[in-house]
Amino acid sequence: MKEAIEQIFQELQQLKATTQSEAEQARIRFLGKKGEITALMEQFRTIAPELKREYGQKLNELKKATTERIEALKSAAASAEEATQPKQDLTMPGDALPLGSRHPVSIVREQIVDIFRKFGYDVAEGPEIEDDYHVFEALNFPPNHPAREMQDTFFVSTGHLNPLLLRTHTSSVQVRTMETQPLPIRVVCPGRVFRNEAISARAHCIFHQVEGLYIDKNVTFADLKQAILLFAREMFGPETEIRMRPSYFPFTEPSAEVDVSCNICHGKGCNICKGTGWLEIMGCGMVDPNVLKASGIDPEVYSGFAFGMGVERIAMLKWQVNDLRHYFENDMRFLGEFATATEV
Ligand code: DAH
Repeated sequence: MKEAIEQIFQELQQLKATTQSEAEQARIRFLGKKGEITALMEQFRTIAPELKREYGQKLNELKKATTERIEALKSAAASAEEATQPKQDLTMPGDALPLGSRHPVSIVREQIVDIFRKFGYDVAEGPEIEDDYHVFEALNFPPNHPAREMQDTFFVSTGHLNPLLLRTHTSSVQVRTMETQPLPIRVVCPGRVFRNEAISARAHCIFHQVEGLYIDKNVTFADLKQAILLFAREMFGPETEIRMRPSYFPFTEPSAEVDVSCNICHGKGCNICKGTGWLEIMGCGMVDPNVLKASGIDPEVYSGFAFGMGVERIAMLKWQVNDLRHYFENDMRFLGEFATATEV
């Protein structure tokens, strides 16, 4: 018996298990019902009483050492197995990052520009920080003229004759184009404009406009009407009608305000068109001879038309958004609604 115990002690030293189940097999071999140590315990009952004390102690030590050794092997094998077995299922498809989408104002601005591109217009751009001359003076706003107050201005510098300011409309790009480009001119000018206005559902201090300008020989009001009608039908649908109401802008004569037939109630009257059946979309007119002259164009030879529209306003009408502020707050829930709006 003594030898058997010694031998198991020695075997324990060399015992190895690379997996948990190997360790379990070792446990069964030594400590299972038919295990070697279990058999020694059986044998122990039959030995002479004077040997019981010594062997009893030895057997207990052996049992304890074996249990500890096997536990250690088991937990080493468990952590080795865990290390080689990744916790995550790497074959699972990954979580896609949410895709951004075009801002609705960009979508509409590009649609407006694309429509006029199809009509043969080029795109022109100008600075957002402008001078008084290009925003007012050359557009026939005389100094101290009350029309300047139609657009409350953010000044960047004051106190001299031609102060710098944030442009209040993209009509300034008309002037820059007339100064630099050869005739005939056919351009649209998209851009950001700034006005000192209290922010509300209908007004913001920053917004976007698209300005249009067409100058050639023999351009008439009929050409203006036709261009606007074609634009309105491309933008709001082929059934769309337009109407023009007389208006006033210093830079056009005659001037008009353009309405399109309400694309929601089709003229019957709803709360978007306030029961009138019409929606106002832009200002326009024949370029005032003074404006042509200021940029060195002879009004006896050339004539032209111009128009200007607010991009947010068009977007609000197209998508029936009733609060302008949605376009500036960048709430993902709002912006996400336009993720698929390539065609409005
Ligand atoms: N500049 C005008 C505005 O900011 C819009 C406008 C009206 C532009 C008539 C034009 C025009 O070119 O002919 O409200």
